Amino acid sequence: MDIFEKFQSDKGPLGRHANVEEGYFMFPKLEGEIAPRMRFRGKEVLTWSLNNYLGLANHPEVRKADADAARKYGLAYPMGARMMSGNTNLHEQLEEELTAFVMKESTMLLNYGYQGILSIIDALVGRKDVIVYDAESHACIIDGVRLHMGKRFVYPHNDIENLEKQLERATKLANENGGGVLVITEGVFGMSGNMGKLKEIVALKKKFDFRLLVDDAHGFGTMGKTGAGAGEEQGVQDGIDLYFSTFAKSMASIGAFVSGDKPIIDYLRYNTRSQIFAKSLPIALVVGALKRLELLKTKPELKENLWKVVDALQNGLKEKGFNIGTTEACVTPVLMSGGLNDATGLIKDLREQYNIFCSVVIYPVVPKNVIMLRLIPTAVHTIEDVEVTISAFESVKHKLVSGEYRKKGVAIIAEQ
Ligand SMILES: Cc1ncc(COP(=O)(O)O)c(C=O)c1O
Repeated sequence: MDIFEKFQSDKGPLGRHANVEEGYFMFPKLEGEIAPRMRFRGKEVLTWSLNNYLGLANHPEVRKADADAARKYGLAYPMGARMMSGNTNLHEQLEEELTAFVMKESTMLLNYGYQGILSIIDALVGRKDVIVYDAESHACIIDGVRLHMGKRFVYPHNDIENLEKQLERATKLANENGGGVLVITEGVFGMSGNMGKLKEIVALKKKFDFRLLVDDAHGFGTMGKTGAGAGEEQGVQDGIDLYFSTFAKSMASIGAFVSGDKPIIDYLRYNTRSQIFAKSLPIALVVGALKRLELLKTKPELKENLWKVVDALQNGLKEKGFNIGTTEACVTPVLMSGGLNDATGLIKDLREQYNIFCSVVIYPVVPKNVIMLRLIPTAVHTIEDVEVTISAFESVKHKLVSGEYRKKGVAIIAEQ
């Protein structure tokens, strides 16, 4: 049998809907400068789906630094992996500045967050070691765990009592094997906006012997007094053994990093396969990241603006009776009830009649009959944007409850 044959009939859980949803729900094209207002299918929409938390994507100083760096160095330099021929003083400068910013001893740059953390997990654990991780971890953590040849235990999301049970099992097994225990969680969970219970997890170090790796993709730049993330916010940055974040969100770029004690970062430099066997970050991106980090440090008003918008949006939604779950961060889920047709009809209405673009999450990511609209506020949204959005949400919720979308849904999209 041709190995490709099965893909003709089964395009996978998302690909299955491609013929009716592609270009609208999947692979939509937002055009124009990255900002709260962009174009979708030729029309201006108010966007709430970009992780451009601090509004740096289109900040004039960032745009200038990116353009100047690209002009000066091109996008190729340096060639080769860091270890072989792709290292520069600027890569090392960025690592040093990140180290200071997240209050650790040393840092390693990574080309991408997803590949980076997956490969870090792979480098850290051997057959005898045991991983304990949160059930709602991002796909990059799950895939890193999948590479692990030894045992792994999962605990229900943020369930510290259960984590303790898993740590008991993990410790026993690790002791028998002569291995160690690695706990992995997120600083801020990207779907719910819940913070990882870092304080409680770090406190468990008194009882159990383990190391803690935290993916703070959504916390870096948005949480903590200086923006150093969820660890700083909860006062336990020291208890995080490896602090990881991507540049894909607050930094509005590409790349990532991991920080920790020098010996462990030195080990990772020589053993993280996604870095050893891949070309290093182009220097223009490194220069761009240095500029972004400078703005993170010198312009606290970016984070202040972000939180003004977050508070207005979350409080406003709650006042109007919306269920925004248990978020503690900028990520703002809005939970409603309905099936696939309700969800697609509602989103289409929001985009076409109210010119509002946000992401929607349905089963199997959330339980059956739950529609989760996911809003990402940024420092460059305005209070007026918030008001317009809440009012539109009231209208569509009313139509949803009255059953208006049920008969339309996917079908109306296919007509386009
Ligand atoms: C929690 C989390 N970790 C890692 C990543 C992956 O980062 P990158 O986009 O740099 O590959 C993401 C998404 O971008 C994320 O949300």
